[in-house]
Amino acid sequence: MKRLIEAIDLVKHFPVGDKKRLHAVDGLNFHIEAGETVGLVGESGCGKSTLVRLLTRTLDLTDGQVRFHGHGIGLIPARAMADHPMRREIQMVFQDPTDSLDPRYTARQTIAESARLLTDMSGSALDRAVEETATHVGLPFELLDRYPHQLSGGQKARVGIARAIVVKPRLLVLDEPTAALDVSVQAVILQLLDRLKREMGMSFLFVSHDLNVVRLLCDRVLVMYLGQIVESGPAREVFARPLHPYTRALIASLPGGLAGGQTTDADLLIGGDPQSPIDPDAHRCRLFGRCPRGVERCHTLAPPLREISRGRAAACHFVGPTEREAFVDAALAMHNIHVDPARRAALTSEFNRVAEMARLVQAARLPGDTLPAPQYRP
Ligand SMILES: Nc1ncnc2c1ncn2[C@@H]1O[C@H](COP(=O)(O)OP(=O)(O)O)[C@@H](O)[C@H]1O
Ligand code: SF4
Ligand SMILES: [Mg+2]
Repeated sequence: MKRLIEAIDLVKHFPVGDKKRLHAVDGLNFHIEAGETVGLVGESGCGKSTLVRLLTRTLDLTDGQVRFHGHGIGLIPARAMADHPMRREIQMVFQDPTDSLDPRYTARQTIAESARLLTDMSGSALDRAVEETATHVGLPFELLDRYPHQLSGGQKARVGIARAIVVKPRLLVLDEPTAALDVSVQAVILQLLDRLKREMGMSFLFVSHDLNVVRLLCDRVLVMYLGQIVESGPAREVFARPLHPYTRALIASLPGGLAGGQTTDADLLIGGDPQSPIDPDAHRCRLFGRCPRGVERCHTLAPPLREISRGRAAACHFVGPTEREAFVDAALAMHNIHVDPARRAALTSEFNRVAEMARLVQAARLPGDTLPAPQYRP
């Protein structure tokens, strides 16, 4: 599949006085493919909305690049975005439908204004597009001439979604799309988004602190902690077998905990606040202090995000192939042999048995024992 949008070493630091800088987004690398639905999760304040504003080009970057269909868009100034042709391609649905709708516009005017500004539609074609979109998002026509204060929360959410999709963007970014809604309405809007995702064929970025939203809707998930991605991978795999201690803690805190067994204390974060995002120590893992597995090394060496297996990455010193797995992989690669994961596990286990035998022999060795010289057969 083709990369639709890509962030390369993306950075946003906010100056916060006294020459200090708040590292809201700190060197992110990821992409979203055409037609893919990606979820971005992480606790409040970890930088999700800042990242969204960088991608939608409503906030200027400190450093790095944003590429859309291979073209750099990171240098478009945020203030020029309102009239930029790119605006049609990336649309946003905001968290609070009440705040984001203009109280002076009816639902019909809100949806039409978006299409009028960003496409060349007018007259009856515009009217038709508004009504088709209203049907698509389940907004009855009789509500189209109402003002926001005459609509319920769920109806306003539908107007916000209609306004974004009427221009047929290639990427729809939803920042906490259900967080401001009543629980009963949340489920209905999630069903609507799930249907739109299947019907419309565009890419989605769902941002949420609610893991269930991501689990329900997304193909792939990015987990963010204090301005950095700490884990990424196919949503099904990440939820079934989270690797990073932070992801494990997030999933362990859901009803039912981690799949396939009890959640242990080692899967819960230690209480206390996250480190400060202001000028954080670049040599320290950002989870150190809250991480149940943290050791001295995590204090002095920040783990990079590295690929653990195909499509999965994590940033933790203790996640990844063990030394022996890495040895088996190297031996297989040397002979250009490809094996499935079960076979690799069997080879590693065989290696472990040989290593264990060597350890036993070494331990049993008496002072006078000598080893036979190695016999080589031609
Ligand atoms: N304009 C700003 N100036 C200074 N700090 C900001 C600004 N916008 C956001 N922040 C800080 O950046 C961090 C990330 O915020 P945000 O992206 O809103 O997180 P999230 O959406 O994950 O809750 C927070 O510490 C927040 O206080
Ligand atoms: S590197 Fe250390 S502190 Fe960071 S997540 Fe891994 S174990 Fe925890
Ligand atoms: Mg936010």
